[in-house]
Amino acid sequence: MLFDTHAHLNDNQFDNDRIEAIERAKENGVECILTVSSDIASSIENIALTQNHDIFYAAVGVHPHNVMDLNNNIISALIDFSTYPKVVAIGEIGLDYFYDNAPREVQKVWFSKQISLAKNLKLPIIVHDREAHEDTMRILKNEKASDVGGVLHCYSGSVEMAKQVMDMGFLISIAGPVTYKNANKLLDVVKYIPDDMLLIETDSPYLPPEPYRGQRNEPSYVKLVAEKIAKIRGTSVEHIANITSSNGKRIFGIQ
Ligand code: NI
Repeated sequence: MLFDTHAHLNDNQFDNDRIEAIERAKENGVECILTVSSDIASSIENIALTQNHDIFYAAVGVHPHNVMDLNNNIISALIDFSTYPKVVAIGEIGLDYFYDNAPREVQKVWFSKQISLAKNLKLPIIVHDREAHEDTMRILKNEKASDVGGVLHCYSGSVEMAKQVMDMGFLISIAGPVTYKNANKLLDVVKYIPDDMLLIETDSPYLPPEPYRGQRNEPSYVKLVAEKIAKIRGTSVEHIANITSSNGKRIFGIQ
């Protein structure tokens, strides 16, 4: 069984074939999809998906691209959303210094505030860190994010950073870029992560694995990520599927 621990199935790129995409995922052995939010509207859409399809669990939160709109009313809304039974995490939250859609100081403030929200709610966090490794680490430490732990999604850091975040109780989630030609640094990380700290994801509709690069990504392709990781680690795809889905269930408290 496969667990796609990070996808955005609310995205309008699925509006024409969402049901078919879910069916294709099931046909490829995907039994669980965590659909992750980036603002209030997507949080509402993702909660609705969990109510309509057994396969979905949801994370609610505000992505660093969207923190300009954040205020305390939005935090109250996230608290309400967290009461839905299949909401299992706060995310995605973090820092994005590649696009810099919001000023970095604003990103940092709302990353910290959403970590403390997650701690109050006792929910793990899903961290987005794009070209912001140093500040991400500093904020995770200062805010004692280890109290709830969670996931560094679409991991792109070093082996050294992976060690430090795993010490804080964070799992390392590997996405489609592991299949790309220039993935050298990521291959070292994939070899290094212990069995009980590894997750896989698609981040669909973004970042499709090879041979679908340039097209829309979807959860059925998480199998390609598992296959590539199995090859790198010299093990079977069944083993990678089993450990990553049991890790995902453990960290997100899914039975
Ligand atoms: Ni994402």
